[in-house]
Amino acid sequence: MKVALCGLGEIGQIHLRAIRESGHELVGVLELNRRLAVESVGDEVPIHTEVMEMVELTEPDVVDICLPHHLHVPIAVAALEAGADVLLEKPMAIDLAGCDEIIAAAEAFDHRVGISHNQIHFAPHRRLRELIDAGRLGQIRAIYERLWMGGKYGGWREDSSQVGGGLLMDAGVHRVYMAEYLGGPVSTVSAVMDKPRSEDSFVLTLEFESGATGVIQGGYHGPEGVFDDRIEIQGSAGMAEALGCEAFFEGDLSGDLRLRARLDGAWVDDPVTGDWDESVIASVRACLDDLAAGREPESGLAAGRSAVAVIEAAYRSAETGNSIRVSDLDGRQ
Ligand SMILES: NC(=O)c1ccc[n+]([C@@H]2O[C@H](COP(=O)([O-])OP(=O)(O)OC[C@H]3O[C@@H](n4cnc5c(N)ncnc54)[C@H](O)[C@@H]3O)[C@@H](O)[C@H]2O)c1
Repeated sequence: MKVALCGLGEIGQIHLRAIRESGHELVGVLELNRRLAVESVGDEVPIHTEVMEMVELTEPDVVDICLPHHLHVPIAVAALEAGADVLLEKPMAIDLAGCDEIIAAAEAFDHRVGISHNQIHFAPHRRLRELIDAGRLGQIRAIYERLWMGGKYGGWREDSSQVGGGLLMDAGVHRVYMAEYLGGPVSTVSAVMDKPRSEDSFVLTLEFESGATGVIQGGYHGPEGVFDDRIEIQGSAGMAEALGCEAFFEGDLSGDLRLRARLDGAWVDDPVTGDWDESVIASVRACLDDLAAGREPESGLAAGRSAVAVIEAAYRSAETGNSIRVSDLDGRQ
């Protein structure tokens, strides 16, 4: 399959590696930073600065989008209109209207869209899903996720109009789709934030359709350099704790232990391995392989939109002080 890659920044570099290792063919890149583009691809493929020119000249089967959030909808819609499938970095869009524009374009032009929810490809997280599917944890009663960071990223992430929010819409969205991956659909959200829609810290209380509850808590206010993420699950028959995903990659945690579970009454260390960058590569490759085979990507339009809906419910809750039912946001849920 011919793949065109948009954005060669932090995550674009890992997508570039994944495409090169995948056996699919890189046919062009879109990148405004000429020096970065030349350093990344040399004269291997043409470097473009305008998406329509890129898709007309390179005729990709898939356009892979690793751009700031406010560009996801216009570039995805342009790619779909031009006859390509799309692989889109998280979050799908900065609001539900944007998600619906992409869904309408995918339907109108009969093309598929995958959302790179890479943490579902982190091996310890897939192991959690296996434990749940095998019934080892019993009925899931509670999920706790935390994201404690020390210090903010700069660049476009300083501009909430490009992010579509603050920390929750950026790194926080991983916790939101992971909550639904492990616990199923979220029905109701209550949230407290310092500055909704440009938040540096947030606490979300979730009610799942299953009756389980969840808490997602995140903030930039840890000691300088900290990146501490973890997931804990309480079930009626067992419990499990994934110690981190980014935490190992960022050097906040070291060693081999990534997952512990309390099964049959005793805590056991799970030998599962894995790293954050491997999850990104696995996510890109799985999506490209699904698209090549004409399959719906494991994480597609429904999962992408659902995560944005939970975040929108959280913003409205933080702004109004009320619990927000996700199904009340509009008629689609
Ligand atoms: N899955 C993850 O864990 C993860 C991690 C980091 C970023 N991301 C996501 O990846 C996307 C990009 O984030 P990033 O951290 O790589 O950002 P970045 O700033 O490092 O890179 C973005 C790149 O896009 C280029 N660019 C910006 N506007 C452009 C335009 N109009 N046309 C062409 N090129 C343009 C910039 O020059 C830059 O090189 C975002 O959606 C972000 O949320 C995901």
